[in-house]
Amino acid sequence: MYQLTYLLYKHQWHIPPSMKVTMEVNNRYITIKTHIEGAPKESDFELKNAALALSIEAGSNDLIVKTLYVSIDPYQINRMKSYSSSRKATVAAAPITPGEAIDGYGVAKIVVSGNPEFQKDELVVGFVGWGEYKLVKGGDRLRKLDPMGFPLSHHTGIFGYGGLTAYSGFFEICKPRKGEKVFVSGASGSVGNLVGQFAKLFGCYVVGSVGNNKKVAVLKEKLGFDDAFNYKEEPDLKATLRRYFPDGIDVYFDNVGGDMLEAAVANMNLFGRVAACGAISEYTNASKRASPNMLDVVYKRIKIQGFLVSDHINLYADFVSTIGDHLRNGKIQPLEDISNGVESIPSAFIGLFQGDNIGKKIVCVAED
Ligand SMILES: NC(=O)c1ccc[n+]([C@@H]2O[C@H](COP(=O)([O-])OP(=O)(O)OC[C@H]3O[C@@H](n4cnc5c(N)ncnc54)[C@H](OP(=O)(O)O)[C@@H]3O)[C@@H](O)[C@H]2O)c1
Repeated sequence: MYQLTYLLYKHQWHIPPSMKVTMEVNNRYITIKTHIEGAPKESDFELKNAALALSIEAGSNDLIVKTLYVSIDPYQINRMKSYSSSRKATVAAAPITPGEAIDGYGVAKIVVSGNPEFQKDELVVGFVGWGEYKLVKGGDRLRKLDPMGFPLSHHTGIFGYGGLTAYSGFFEICKPRKGEKVFVSGASGSVGNLVGQFAKLFGCYVVGSVGNNKKVAVLKEKLGFDDAFNYKEEPDLKATLRRYFPDGIDVYFDNVGGDMLEAAVANMNLFGRVAACGAISEYTNASKRASPNMLDVVYKRIKIQGFLVSDHINLYADFVSTIGDHLRNGKIQPLEDISNGVESIPSAFIGLFQGDNIGKKIVCVAED
């Protein structure tokens, strides 16, 4: 039955009015089986199948969308815990209930629309799901997408939240000056690689830390970082940063927290700035918490500021136009790591915490 209705839908075969067929598709989607407290593993996830009727309530503004690309992001682990203080901050950080569909940022195509603002077959970007299809009440948290000639994956990654996080965090929170010394952790990831590229374009000296030597080579040879190191080969991070920054660090863009934050603070210059973007080394280890030397913070007048990308949506138009120009002129290199198929979402997500990805992790759920 699923196959028949899917074929009818796909080929838009004519259905005589006398033949009452409710079109439906088989929707495969990912759920968590229970809350996750440590590092995520395959057995924490389930690939579910459910029939989804391709119809919406008469008079509603609802949409049914087909997911094309979905962004895979570390913050989702905090939503999967039984408790995390992060969930009070924004709607996007709301808890995920075991067994239920998981929402996530991405690009989708409209399959059915009851909303006059959206038409069938149009592309949208926003909160879709870790699944093949989604019923979106009122078209909530979705907007029309103009790809501007760029691949759809770019609208999940570099033009998405990762890109805006790097842009707003670096320019608004770090307030860099030309010639300053910038250190970025998680530097080959979605946010980190762009922070480093923005810093170089702006005229700063940039060093990145990453978890393997292949990533070191990508930063130095492909993205133009001045230097990079593999933190897993460095037994004393304070000494390592002293070696890479003999004149001290002016700006630290922190994606990882933990020991690296402590080491960076120890090496900061007077009036240094730390953008606390994320603390991935602490997300899966409840006993690990950075304790930077507060005497350094006070006497060196270091500013450590947390921020959320959602505070900087006002920069979006400016950001899209700037990044678009940089991409067209080859001044910024997009770094993407794409897996295929809804079934690959759990391993893609688990891989974030094992350092598997180089660049923005994306899953292509369907090409069209
Ligand atoms: N404030 C905001 O609004 C905002 C928005 C987006 C993202 N974030 C945060 O920004 C950070 C980066 O996010 P992203 O999307 O760009 O992820 P990502 O860097 O693309 O992927 C995660 C990377 O983190 C590194 N990592 C994993 N476990 C680690 C550990 N224990 N210690 C050090 N590094 C570890 C791994 O690279 P290595 O091989 O280098 O270890 C991994 O590839 C995260 O903390 C995220 O939560 C914040």
